[in-house]
Amino acid sequence: MRIPEDKIEEIRNTSNIVDIISGYVQLKKRGKNFVGLCPFHQEKTPSFTVSEEKQLFKCFGCNVGGNVFSFLMEYKNISFVEAVEEVAESLGIKINYQQQSFSDPSGLEELYEINTIAAKYFSSNLFNSDEGETARNYLKKRKIKPQVQRSFGLGYAFSEWEHFLQFAKDNNINIAKAKQLGLIDTKDNGGFYDKFRGRIIFPIFSPNGRVIAFGGRILDPSAKTAKYLNSPESPIYLKRRSLYGLYHSKDEIRKLDKAVLVEGYMDLIALFQQGIKNVVASSGTSLTTEQVQLLSRYTKNIIVLFDADSAGQAAASRSIEILLKQNFEVKVVTLPEEHDPDSYINEFGKTEFENLLNNAKNFLEYQTEKFKKQGDLDDPQRETEAIRELVRIISFIEDPLKRNIYIKSISRKFGLREKLIESELERFFSQNRSRQTGSNQQRFKQSVNGIKTDSKIREVENKFEKEIIILLLEGIEEVMDIIFDHILPEEFINPVYKHVAKIIFENYKKDVFSPSIIVEQIEDETIKDFVLSLSLNNDTISTRYGDDFTSKEVTQKNLIKYADDIAMRYKVLKIDEQLEMNRKKIASGISEEEILELLKLNSELEKEKKTMLEEHNGK
Ligand code: CTP
Ligand code: MN
Repeated sequence: MRIPEDKIEEIRNTSNIVDIISGYVQLKKRGKNFVGLCPFHQEKTPSFTVSEEKQLFKCFGCNVGGNVFSFLMEYKNISFVEAVEEVAESLGIKINYQQQSFSDPSGLEELYEINTIAAKYFSSNLFNSDEGETARNYLKKRKIKPQVQRSFGLGYAFSEWEHFLQFAKDNNINIAKAKQLGLIDTKDNGGFYDKFRGRIIFPIFSPNGRVIAFGGRILDPSAKTAKYLNSPESPIYLKRRSLYGLYHSKDEIRKLDKAVLVEGYMDLIALFQQGIKNVVASSGTSLTTEQVQLLSRYTKNIIVLFDADSAGQAAASRSIEILLKQNFEVKVVTLPEEHDPDSYINEFGKTEFENLLNNAKNFLEYQTEKFKKQGDLDDPQRETEAIRELVRIISFIEDPLKRNIYIKSISRKFGLREKLIESELERFFSQNRSRQTGSNQQRFKQSVNGIKTDSKIREVENKFEKEIIILLLEGIEEVMDIIFDHILPEEFINPVYKHVAKIIFENYKKDVFSPSIIVEQIEDETIKDFVLSLSLNNDTISTRYGDDFTSKEVTQKNLIKYADDIAMRYKVLKIDEQLEMNRKKIASGISEEEILELLKLNSELEKEKKTMLEEHNGK
């Protein structure tokens, strides 16, 4: 069953984002927009912005944003379809569902579907079968309550070799796809067998709650096989982009504006069960940049809580580096030897555990203490290396003020002059730069702000492109007519603007002008965030061209004039650029014939420019 496209369209067009959001957030008019306290993170001054005109919202504090449907999806943790249904109901619109099975051109829906069926199968094995008894006993021994087992969708894979295979065949599951998902595999002689056998199953959810993969823990401790087996990567599961537990913990993480990072599935579930619900698990490997990026949508504060063993501590150090590069506030808790978060909280209880969290050390203290324990500070040679390592770590902090506080701290700890530490820091800066290890955001900013060239024109061009994108995001048909009459998306130089322009153009061709629809189609989260802030920034063009006192029509008229103006100036700039390039070529000592050719080209370009200017001024 699905909602017809045109119905979604109708619901989108009839709804008003301000009315809907007002049901959950107190909004005040400020300038053209409405603002309020963000429901997705804690704040005292409002940075949550809603535009009635554009039917978009964005929080400039925590970066959540989108249209009316995305708001409800985030706020209520519901799916797109549920959000559409909810808006329809509030508007009194009746939905006639389409019976036909929906198209799945990418084939992804089928993969999700198979995983959902498999998760239900594993769960039923755990709760309803005789063999499941051993698994139930095991989980009981590990103190996980049945209710928590259910909420994390835990299951059990039978020890037989073909039980799931048979189930899949009986249920018409596409065997090739089940293999792609790592649920079954091929035997040497050609047949198939179950990948997960005799294991407790942990479904891995996407942030929106879809089953994207599985982890399986062996039950029999004497089995000569890996303790954990995880699904391979698939079109719906990218390991480096998924964080175990995030679906369950994201609300709490946002609410507390803080996350606890642990290593294991069991650790996460144990903490969650005891009421510490702002947890995510890296699932054993050290954290990746993509995982940190994902988490940064919910908070920038983290407590790293890895096992006390050397593997855990090494993973902690690597994770700290990646977190700092993305501007996280990082604290670390070291557990007593022989403990992991799961065993600790089960032995000492929630209060003791919270004590640990409250006494978390900042990463610098943590690292210093680690060196001390290893005896690195007892020998001048090794001490120098240790200090250098500390300086290297703080070189990843972008905020100069914050960095300075850490410089002072190192200076005090080791009795060194701050100047000395700063000069050491400089060395790492140039190393970081040459290795281009800047954060993704930094790199993104760089690419948005323009490719560095010696040409002044390029820089101006980049500013124009940004301005044009902002104009296009006003959602006014006439403005788009003018821009796209003069400029096609392919002509954009900046790759980010080009990408966005293309999406806008595709919609324009289909007579879709609304930014709230366009934004929904941007898949890359970073670009989407960026476009939302461009569109909802207080400095948008319509704000500059009309305020509360001018009517909407005046604003529109001004915008059309401005679009005309900017399209022309951008064109002229392009011609100037061409002229400059040709002149450079001429000066570079090419053949006479080529020079003549270029001179002729340039005079044509000059003429074109002149006509354009005259036409424009004559208007
Ligand atoms: N892990 C893995 N593959 C392995 C070992 C570990 O994927 N062969 C991942 C799992 O996500 C696991 C985490 O690393 O949860 C931490 O591993 P470990 O500390 O060995 O296990 P615990 O989570 O403590 O599991 P348990 O308490 O059940 O022994
Ligand atoms: Mn454990």
